[in-house]
Amino acid sequence: MAILNILKEGDEALRKKCREVEEITPRILRLLDDMHDTLEKAQGVGLAAPQVGVLRRIVIVEIDDKKYEMINPVIIDKKGKQEEIEACLSVPNKYGSVVRPTWAKVRAMNRNGEIYEVEGEGLMARCFCHELDHLDGILYIDKAKEMYDPEDIEEA
Ligand code: NI
Repeated sequence: MAILNILKEGDEALRKKCREVEEITPRILRLLDDMHDTLEKAQGVGLAAPQVGVLRRIVIVEIDDKKYEMINPVIIDKKGKQEEIEACLSVPNKYGSVVRPTWAKVRAMNRNGEIYEVEGEGLMARCFCHELDHLDGILYIDKAKEMYDPEDIEEA
């Protein structure tokens, strides 16, 4: 278990399209464990492998007691529109309002190689979309309608 370095905006790894995982190796399992440690330390709700410099289609999402490991995840259905403030561990001290679906369904593989589907609403749907975008080199700042500094948020 280890805390990994989270890459920041400007690092070209964050702009690459990630490759699918073909086989779940001990290295992939270790990466998942390290991503959990890293996300916990950073107190975030989601982390994608390219944020720690690994260009593979892997995402973890942890909101309250719901924790998902998603290997080769795909959004297979979505509904609605919500505009809320979003942030990213790779873009520190910034916030932006982004339109996302209110509900999304993801199909992914777990660490045992089993395919599963999960639905999320509200923050969970937002997080699925934000993290999956990372796998295609997309940051939320590309989609943000407005950007804010932390002091703007505190006043709101
Ligand atoms: Ni992010």
